[in-house]
Amino acid sequence: MRLKKSNILLLAVTLGFLIFFSCKELFTYHATDHVRVNVRKEEVQRTPPAKNKPILIQWPKCQQNISAAKISGFETVPKNIQDFLFYRHCRHFPMLLDLPDKCGGAENSAEVFLLLVIKSAPMNYERREVLRKTWAKERVHNRVWIRRIFITGTSGVGFEKDRLNAGLKLEQHEYNDILQWDFEESFFNLTLKQTLFLEWMDRNCPDARFHLNGDDDVFAHTDNMVEYLQGLKDNDGSKQLFTGHLITGKGPIRLAGSKYFVPIQVQESETYPSYCGGGGYLLSGYTARVIYNMSESIDIHPIDDVYMGMCLAKAGLGPSSHMGFRTAGLHIPSKKMDQYDPCHYKDILLVHRLMPVQVYFMWHKIHDPNLKCRMKKISNIKQKFL
Ligand SMILES: *[C@@H]1O[C@H](CO)[C@@H](O)[C@H](O)[C@H]1NC(C)=O
Ligand SMILES: *[C@@H]1O[C@H](CO)[C@@H](O)[C@H](O)[C@H]1NC(C)=O
Ligand SMILES: *[C@@H]1O[C@H](CO)[C@@H](O)[C@H](O)[C@H]1NC(C)=O
Repeated sequence: MRLKKSNILLLAVTLGFLIFFSCKELFTYHATDHVRVNVRKEEVQRTPPAKNKPILIQWPKCQQNISAAKISGFETVPKNIQDFLFYRHCRHFPMLLDLPDKCGGAENSAEVFLLLVIKSAPMNYERREVLRKTWAKERVHNRVWIRRIFITGTSGVGFEKDRLNAGLKLEQHEYNDILQWDFEESFFNLTLKQTLFLEWMDRNCPDARFHLNGDDDVFAHTDNMVEYLQGLKDNDGSKQLFTGHLITGKGPIRLAGSKYFVPIQVQESETYPSYCGGGGYLLSGYTARVIYNMSESIDIHPIDDVYMGMCLAKAGLGPSSHMGFRTAGLHIPSKKMDQYDPCHYKDILLVHRLMPVQVYFMWHKIHDPNLKCRMKKISNIKQKFL
C-alpha cells in the first residue's frame, strides 16, 4: 500500500506530538504538595500512583544527644566537633525542595544514564548557574540522558536564611534541579547531605545507571564520562563501579586547626579505608544502592568521601583508581606553560578546582572545532580509558 505524502506528514506530526507529551509527562515538575510519610524506610512510599506530586517528607525535629557531652575529653574538642557529636545520630531532616520526577519516577529511572549529583551550598548561585550552562547541562549525549541535581542544606539564620531559601525556591521554579533539606550546611554535615541524597535516590531514582558525585567547584568532562561508561565491558550500571582519584593508606588528621581534624572522640582507629577524593567520583547505580544499604548501620563520619569508603569496605568492595580524575588539580610541569590551556582539559574526566569563569571558558573551548592541540601536553588519558 502506498501512502500519500500528506498522510505521511500527518502521521509524523501525530507521532511527534505523542512523543513530546509522553516525554513531558516523564520529566516535568509540578507544584509541591505536603504529604506526611511515616518514619521507617520500608514504610516510605516509592513515587506513588498519584505521580507528579512531590512527597515532602516531614520528620520530627531531631533532638541533640546530651550524653555526647559525657565522652571523655569532650570539652577539649572544637565547637564544630562538639556539634557534630551532639547531632551525629540525626539521619532525617524535612525536605524543603524535592524533585520526585527528576528521573521520570522510580520505575522509569533506568532511562537516566548519568545522574550528576552536585553538592552545593545555598550561597553558590553563580557556580550553579555556570554549571547549568556547561558540563552539567541536562541533555542527550551519545544517545543517552544526562540529568542534574544540586543537593543543599540551609545557611544563615533569621532573615538571611529565609532569603537564601526563597532564592533557591526561585531557582527551583526556573530550573527544577534542587534537592534541599532543612539542616545546617557545614563541612562536617556533608556526609549527612550524602546519606539524605541516597535515601532520596532509593525512593525516586533507584535505577539510574551511573552517578557522578561531586562538588560545585570542579570541572567535569561529562561527555568523556559518558563515553568512558559506555565503553565499560559488561557493566550497564548493574555491577560494582566506584572510581576516581584513589586515596589509600591515610588516617584521621589529629592536628587541631586542620579543616580535616578528626579527634579520637570522633574516631579512635588510626586508619581510613581506601576512598576516592570527594571533589568528584563515578559510581554505578548498583554501588550507590549497596552504599545506601551499608550506611544504615555505619555511624556517620564527618568526612564525606571517607565515609563512602567505609560503606564500600563494609560491603567488601573497593574503590578503583582512574587517571582521568584530578581532584588535587592538574600538575602542569612547567610554570611557563598556561595552567588553563584547554588542551590540558580535553582528555580528562574531572579537575578540582576551577572558578565559574574558568569553567565557562573551558567548556566552550574544548568544544571549539578550531581548537588545535598539536602536542599532547599531558599523556593521552582518553586513549587509556576508551
Ligand atoms: C549518645 O551519645 C552517647 C555517647 O557517645 C552514645 O553512647 C549513644 O549511643 C548516643 N545516643 C544516640 C541516640 O545516638
Ligand atoms: C548539622 O546540621 C544540624 C541540623 O541543622 C545542626 O544541628 C548541626 O549543628 C550541624 N552540624 C554541624 C557539625 O555543623
Ligand atoms: C539492599 O537491601 C535490601 C533490603 O535489605 C535488599 O533487598 C537489596 O537487595 C539490597 N541492595 C543491594 C544493592 O545490596
